[in-house]
Amino acid sequence: MAAKQVNIAIIGAGGVGKAFLAQLQALSSRRPSPKLSLCYISTSKKALYNDDFSPLAYETAIQELATTSKQAKTLSQVVDYLGAVSKSTNAKVVLVDNTSSQDVADFYPTFLKNSVSIVTPNKKAFSGSYKLWQDIFAAAESSGAKVYHESSVGAGLPVISTLKDLVETGDEVTKIEGVFSGTMSFLFNSFAPVEGAGGQWSAEVKKAKDLGYTEPDPRDDLNGLDVARKLTILARLAGLPVESPTAFPVQSLIPKELESVASGDEFLQRLPEFDSQMEEIKAAAEREGKVVRFVGSIDMASKAVKVGLETFEKSHPIAGLKGSDNIISFYTKRYGAKPLIIQGAGAGGDVTAMGVTGDLNKVISQIA
Ligand SMILES: NC(=O)c1ccc[n+]([C@@H]2O[C@H](COP(=O)([O-])OP(=O)(O)OC[C@H]3O[C@@H](n4cnc5c(N)ncnc54)[C@H](OP(=O)(O)O)[C@@H]3O)[C@@H](O)[C@H]2O)c1
Repeated sequence: MAAKQVNIAIIGAGGVGKAFLAQLQALSSRRPSPKLSLCYISTSKKALYNDDFSPLAYETAIQELATTSKQAKTLSQVVDYLGAVSKSTNAKVVLVDNTSSQDVADFYPTFLKNSVSIVTPNKKAFSGSYKLWQDIFAAAESSGAKVYHESSVGAGLPVISTLKDLVETGDEVTKIEGVFSGTMSFLFNSFAPVEGAGGQWSAEVKKAKDLGYTEPDPRDDLNGLDVARKLTILARLAGLPVESPTAFPVQSLIPKELESVASGDEFLQRLPEFDSQMEEIKAAAEREGKVVRFVGSIDMASKAVKVGLETFEKSHPIAGLKGSDNIISFYTKRYGAKPLIIQGAGAGGDVTAMGVTGDLNKVISQIA
């Protein structure tokens, strides 16, 4: 009998993609069966694959991808290629999407219908329209292919698997609350630390940008959409059919006057004009002996999902967060008044890739 094999295709070879590839190489040498065979890897422009479906070498894939003249296949071509790989090797295929592309996400139902399982840290598919969410899980259900996305919320922190376990074992989730953005965590932990004082808002935003903690244009963090996407995913898993990440209140920290300035640099230049507004919010919290934080919450009884500023007692776990860590509290019937809390790094290539590799392991054990 032929040795068991699973074919792995990777779209996206940036920070997470590269870290994932390194972990996949280690996994494949640690776990010889099933054989994990790399059949496709691409960026948005280039791709590495063999026309005779023979496996790619893990060790040299990134280098070869940088120098190859082969163009990336279209998504339809990738579906066809992976079908041919599966047929030729008589083995299943897992697609690892390490992009943040909506186009790739929109193709998940097609991949799944063609028996290709999906593992991804990309939030787009699970936080876009509710129809796409339904199409994805219906396609998986009908073909038996698997779909896992642990790192789409809290990077490698076991947030999604924990929520699934709570729900599937019959606990009743009453509320989910937390700091879901490393950028927002860093900004508020240094702008309004529990010890008092803290920096000026605009200076903290600039510092976060200089340290590489923000998107190239910090407004892409300050608009709250990234947190709203994560809340959408958790709300849906908890049983609320949230239509989209814009279907509930999301507070943007971009001053109205700066919403339409042309560049991120101009935004940063003018942000000090609005420091007094944030200073007043900090002072108001301080007068009550509290600190302000940017949080997301889901209240199951009232079906209320919201993202924005809230104040917390200084002894609250959310107030005491450090650095750019995330914290997620699950309030449930079983856990009672003391929530189940998950806390730690919510960003970074290695920890995010760990969530992806862990998901891959789960898929392999089910399909191989
Ligand atoms: N980094 C983190 O800490 C972190 C944490 C949690 C979740 N995530 C998620 O992980 C994913 C990857 O993040 P990252 O930091 O690795 O991003 P990144 O460094 O920007 O890399 C993205 C990769 O995807 C490729 N890509 C983009 N659009 C594509 C398309 N339409 N078709 C094929 N390839 C495409 C890019 O290729 P080009 O170079 O050609 O554009 C690049 O190789 C994102 O969904 C992100 O939200 C990241």
